[in-house]
Amino acid sequence: MTYTTSSAPSRLSRAAAVIPAAGSGVRLGPGAPKALRPLGGIPMLVHAVRAMARARAVSLVVVVAPPAEVGAVRSLLDAYPAPPAVERIVVAGGATRQQSVGRGLAALPADVEVVLVHDAARPLVPVETVDAVIAAVRAGAPAVVPALPVTDTVKQIAAPAAGGGPEPVVATPDRSLLRAVQTPQGFDRATLAEAHDTHAGDDATDDAGLVERLGVQVVLVPGHEEAFKVTRPLDLVLAEAVLARRGGTDGR
Ligand code: CTP
Ligand code: MG
Repeated sequence: MTYTTSSAPSRLSRAAAVIPAAGSGVRLGPGAPKALRPLGGIPMLVHAVRAMARARAVSLVVVVAPPAEVGAVRSLLDAYPAPPAVERIVVAGGATRQQSVGRGLAALPADVEVVLVHDAARPLVPVETVDAVIAAVRAGAPAVVPALPVTDTVKQIAAPAAGGGPEPVVATPDRSLLRAVQTPQGFDRATLAEAHDTHAGDDATDDAGLVERLGVQVVLVPGHEEAFKVTRPLDLVLAEAVLARRGGTDGR
C-alpha cells in the first residue's frame, strides 16, 4: 500500500512508546507480576523498555506499572539506565489492558506525534520490527500492526463451553486470510487518542481494534517470530532459548 506524500510529515515527528506492564500474568502461574519476572536474569520489562529505546526515533518510554509496584518499577529503571536521550516515565495501570494503555496515553507530552503501544510481555521484539512500524506511521498510515500468518488451522465456536466440555464447531475460517498480530502497534497520536476516548468503556485486547471501530483503516506490516508474547510457562523456556541464541543476557 502507498500513502499520499501530502499527509507525510515534512520533518521527523517525535515518537514515544507506551508499555502496558500492569498485568499479573495469571496464565504464567503464581509469582511476581509477569513484567517483573526475570529473563536471562533481567526483568522482562527491562528487556521491553530496551527494545523500544533501541529504536532511534523513540525518545520517551512510558511504562504502565502494576499500581502496587510503581515505586519498585521506578527503582528498577534507575538500576538499568537507558541511553540519556531516552526519557522514561512510570504511571500506575488500570484493571484492564485498555485502561492501562489509556493511562499511559494521558501521560504523553503534547509534542509527541507518533505513539507505539508495546506489551511488556513481548520483551524480545527486534529493533527492525519497531523501526518498520514507525516508518509506516511516518509515511502516513494512521495505524500500523506487525503481524504473522497463522500456522494452526483455526476453528470458530459459538461460545466457550464451561468446564472444558466438548465445544461444537461452527466454522473454519480460511487460514490464508488470517493473521496473528503483535506489538509494537504504531499510531498517529491523534487517531489513537480519539479511539481510546470514543471507546473508553470497551475491553479491547489490542489498540488497533479500537481504531478499527472508528472506521479508520489499519494496516499490517510483517511481524517477527521473536516478537511472540510470553503468556504461558513454555513461552519462558522459548524466550530463554532466544536470548541464549543471541549470546548473553541481552545480546543486542
Ligand atoms: N496489561 C496491563 N494492564 C492490565 C492487564 C494487562 O498493562 N490490567 C498488560 C500486561 O502487563 C502485558 C500486556 O498488557 O504486558 C498483555 O497482556 P497479557 O499478556 O494478557 O498479560 P497479563 O494480563 O499480565 O497476563 P494474564 O492475562 O495471563 O493474566
Ligand atoms: Mg491479560
